[in-house]
Amino acid sequence: MKDVNVGICGLGTVGGGTFNVLNRNASQIAGRAGCNIRISRVASRTERTDFDLGDIPFTTDIFDVVNDPDVDIVIELIGGYETAKELVMAAIKNGKHVVTANKALIAVHGNEIFEAAEAKGVIVAFEAGVAGGIPVIKAMREGLAANRIDWIAGIINGTGNFILTEMRAGREFGDVLKEAQQLGYAEADPTFDVEGIDAAHKLTILASTGFGVPLQFERAYTEGISKITPYDIAHAEMLGYRIKHLGIARRRGNGIELRVHPTLVPQGHLIAQVDGVLNAVLVDGDAVGQTLYYGPGAGDEATASAVIADVVDVARAVATDSSHRVPYLGFSQGALEDLPVLPMEDIQSAYYLRIQAEDHPGVLAKVASILSEHGINIESIVQKESELEDGKIPVIILTHTVQERQVNRAIEDIEALADIVGQVVRIRAENFS
Ligand code: HSE
Repeated sequence: MKDVNVGICGLGTVGGGTFNVLNRNASQIAGRAGCNIRISRVASRTERTDFDLGDIPFTTDIFDVVNDPDVDIVIELIGGYETAKELVMAAIKNGKHVVTANKALIAVHGNEIFEAAEAKGVIVAFEAGVAGGIPVIKAMREGLAANRIDWIAGIINGTGNFILTEMRAGREFGDVLKEAQQLGYAEADPTFDVEGIDAAHKLTILASTGFGVPLQFERAYTEGISKITPYDIAHAEMLGYRIKHLGIARRRGNGIELRVHPTLVPQGHLIAQVDGVLNAVLVDGDAVGQTLYYGPGAGDEATASAVIADVVDVARAVATDSSHRVPYLGFSQGALEDLPVLPMEDIQSAYYLRIQAEDHPGVLAKVASILSEHGINIESIVQKESELEDGKIPVIILTHTVQERQVNRAIEDIEALADIVGQVVRIRAENFS
C-alpha cells in the first residue's frame, strides 16, 4: 500500500487529538483511504516535550512543514487569521493539499484561498471548521447534491448553547461564561463565542456550501447572547418557546439572509432539545425536506474525526493520482451564484417583544394599535399584572412573521409612547417553515 505523507501544524487540542486518532486507528483509516497515512512531520510554535511523538520529526517552525518536499498534505491547526493564511498560501504555492479546522480563516479569506488552490490544482478541505465532529459540510456538499437548499439553521457554537442551557435554571450569564471558560469550551477570546462571531464564521461557510455562493462573512449580521436575561428565557418558555443562539441562512428573492442572533424556537422542535455544548444543524432541501445533523461541535478527538475524514478524502486522490476533485464549496468555482446578503431590514421573522408599560388604562390598546398600523399580526400577548414593579408592568407579545423593517418602525413608535419605560426587548423567533 502506498504512503501518503501528512504534516501537522499545531499541536493544541485538535492537533493532539488528530495525532492520537491517526495513530490509534491507523489500520482502519488505511483500509478506508486505500493508502497508509503517515505523519511525516509535526510542528508547533511552542516546544512540546510533554507530547510523545515517537520518531516523528518535530519543529517549532511551522513553515518547515510546508517547505518539506515529502509532505503531501498540510494539516493546519494553528487557528487565527494572518499566520494561518500565510501558511496555507505557502502550502498551496508549494503544490500541497491543505486540510484545516480554521473557520475564521476560511470564512474571511476562503475566496482568495480557493482561487489560489484552483490555480495550483490542489485541494483545500475544512469540514472540521464547522460544527466540530458533525460531518455537515460533506452532507451538504455530497449527500444533498441533488437538492436546491433553501435554508440552513444551526446551533453552531457550543459555548453559547452551554450558557443558554444553564441559564434556564436561573443562572446569570457572566457566572455561566466563567464556567464555560474553565471547562475549556470557549475560544481564546470568548467574545467570539458569546457575540456570535464564531457562529458567523461557521454560518458563512455553511451558506456558501449550501447555496453555492462566494463567502460573504463581512456581510453577516451578528448579535450575541450577552443581553439575554433569565427573565426572557422564562417568559419564552411560558409561551412554548426556548431561546437558542442560531445561525440562519435563507434564500430570499435575489439574495440570502445571513444572520446569527438569539432566537425563540418552538419547544417541541428537535433543535430545542439540543442542550449543553452540543451542536445541531438543520438543512432544508427541496427534494429531501428537513434534515438534522447533531453531535459534538468541539473537543479534541471529535474535531479530529472531521479533520481525518478530510485527510482520507485527499489521500485517496493523492494515492490514485486522481484528477477528480470535489469542488471546495461543493459547486465548481465558475458555477458560484452571485446572491448578495440582504440588509437586516429585508429579512423576515417572527418577533418576541417585551415592553415595560405604566399600569394605566389603554396602554395595551395603544401598543396593539401601533402594531396593527405597521401591518404586524399578533400571535399571542401576555400582560403580567402579577409582576407589577414600581407601577410598571411587563407586556409580552409574540408576532407572526413580518419584515424586520416593519418591526423596527413599530418599536420606534412604541418607545415614543409616554406610557412606555426604557427600550423594547426584541428577540427574533423561528418556526422553521
Ligand atoms: N468555541 C467553539 C464553540 C469551539 O464553543 O463551539 C468549536 O468551534
